[in-house]
Amino acid sequence: MATLASELDLPEITLADGNYDQRHAMRQSLSRDQWLVRNLFGYGVLHYDDATAVLRDKRWHSATSRIPELMGITNPAFLERQQISILSAEGDVHTRLRRLVAQAFSPRAADRLRPFMREVMNGLIDGVAAAGRADFTTDICEPYPIPIICELLGAPKRDWQLFSRWASDILEIFSSDVVDKLDVIMRAQDELGEYTRGLIAERRSKPAEDLLTDLIAAEEAGDKLSNDELVMMVNAVIVGGTDTTRNQLGCAVALFADHPDQWALLAERPELAPRAVEEAMRFFGAVRGTARFASCDIEYRDVLFPAGTFISVGLAEANRDDAVFPDPEVFDITASAPSQPQLTFGSGIHYCLGAALARAELQEALPLLAQRMPKLAIDGAITWKPDGVGIFGPAHMPITFAAGQ
Ligand code: HEM
Repeated sequence: MATLASELDLPEITLADGNYDQRHAMRQSLSRDQWLVRNLFGYGVLHYDDATAVLRDKRWHSATSRIPELMGITNPAFLERQQISILSAEGDVHTRLRRLVAQAFSPRAADRLRPFMREVMNGLIDGVAAAGRADFTTDICEPYPIPIICELLGAPKRDWQLFSRWASDILEIFSSDVVDKLDVIMRAQDELGEYTRGLIAERRSKPAEDLLTDLIAAEEAGDKLSNDELVMMVNAVIVGGTDTTRNQLGCAVALFADHPDQWALLAERPELAPRAVEEAMRFFGAVRGTARFASCDIEYRDVLFPAGTFISVGLAEANRDDAVFPDPEVFDITASAPSQPQLTFGSGIHYCLGAALARAELQEALPLLAQRMPKLAIDGAITWKPDGVGIFGPAHMPITFAAGQ
């Protein structure tokens, strides 16, 4: 007979705003048998096998769909838009969307953009190379993903600025005062929607080698994405693919600054880039956790979670689980690949749709940076973003490096 979760005597852990080192120390202090903890939202799992079990169990639904409600948003037009997004859809609606778009986000599709990614990154490094110093966040991380997303969609260079503004406005959905920002967010969504409809019309008459053309052509058993769904996918690419990539690049470089031998090694052996990206994302992921709620009563490991229960999944903690990673506290880009993947892209049906693109972006950026920014060092101190459950990374990261490369 399963025990009701609320009747268990569980340790409290603050996954919402706890300092990462404290959380990490907390995890290490827990015995291996302590698989469930209590936190601000409800419960939390921290071990790799429990994290993947929750993420792969379709009865646990993504908490993304509940965020507007939890933040006190009641605007019906906004809520309606959220409902058709792949980021919050569940069940058959979600399965259909994933099936239709999967091919357009394949590694092969991402590979098309690799030369362009190098061109963008080289251009950004050119801007700071002579000085030998930069704010890595504002000079490199911030501007990196927008041109790539524009190129991915087939939007011309003259529109990068427009996209940059829409992205910043739309990304306000992650801010703590989102209720006050709804007008700004919806205006940007409207403008982006109108722009995307124009691009769709162009691509329908003149197909090109880009994501939008692939998405328009995507078809399964006679089923196709509607114009509204195409617009929603572009919105999801901006929401899911901009700040994540920026922050992951920032976290990775902060980590390398702490491990100069690994930085020099990556410069010397750029073929290590794929392993370096997985290891950096394991050791220091920009997405440290995600959350689910029980869509019905769920029994797991003899515990009953009533419908509606929230559970947070500690991706960062699971990524340091010694049951899966042989030397979890050592950052080593030459270590052989672990038997199971790092979890910073999630797992299960909501596994990051843009993982191939993000991997390509990081695999192209990091070796170039290592080669052109030798002797990288933090110049003073990094200012970190608030340590919540959302996207984490450096807000400012002053760096120095050997100039002129
Ligand atoms: C290093 C960069 C990135 C990281 C760390 C990351 C992380 C994640 C994670 C953890 C999830 C699953 C969330 C959950 O299960 O609750 C996710 C989903 C998603 N990501 Fe990413 N992401 C990254 C880059 C991207 C890019 C570049 C794109 C767009 C091209 C993208 C688009 C999406 C979308 C659309 C989803 C929702 C998928 C679904 O619910 O079916 N992401 N991402």
